[in-house]
Amino acid sequence: MELTHIEHIGIAVKNIEEQLPYYEGFLGLKCYNIETVEDQKVKTAFFMIGQTKIELLEPTSEESTIAKFIEKRGEGIHHIAFATKNLGESLREIEAKGVRLIDTQPRAGAEGLNIAFLHPKSTGSVLTELCEHP
Ligand code: CO
Repeated sequence: MELTHIEHIGIAVKNIEEQLPYYEGFLGLKCYNIETVEDQKVKTAFFMIGQTKIELLEPTSEESTIAKFIEKRGEGIHHIAFATKNLGESLREIEAKGVRLIDTQPRAGAEGLNIAFLHPKSTGSVLTELCEHP
């Protein structure tokens, strides 16, 4: 498996609009995309820094895993996503090494990426996503 860079850092927020003054006004980043991912029940907002994005995640339903995360742990860093060159191969490889997977197959994420989550039990409690640009 070859990870190329940190693709994004996912941050759980209650309300994207309320966070824009911080990211845009104070940090001077530009929100270039706001997108709803229906099957994950989240609205996402993206900021680019070098090769890396900040991805704000706002729940669109109380059933959303992001809503549950905020309820339990409050707003804040939710996951880290590493870019890999071949996602399917990477998953097979680390699964064979004993890493527990949440997603055993790549699925569609925001921004047209293929994504898969690793289980926090195998990653020192850091929710970790691998993703690939198709
Ligand atoms: Co993500």
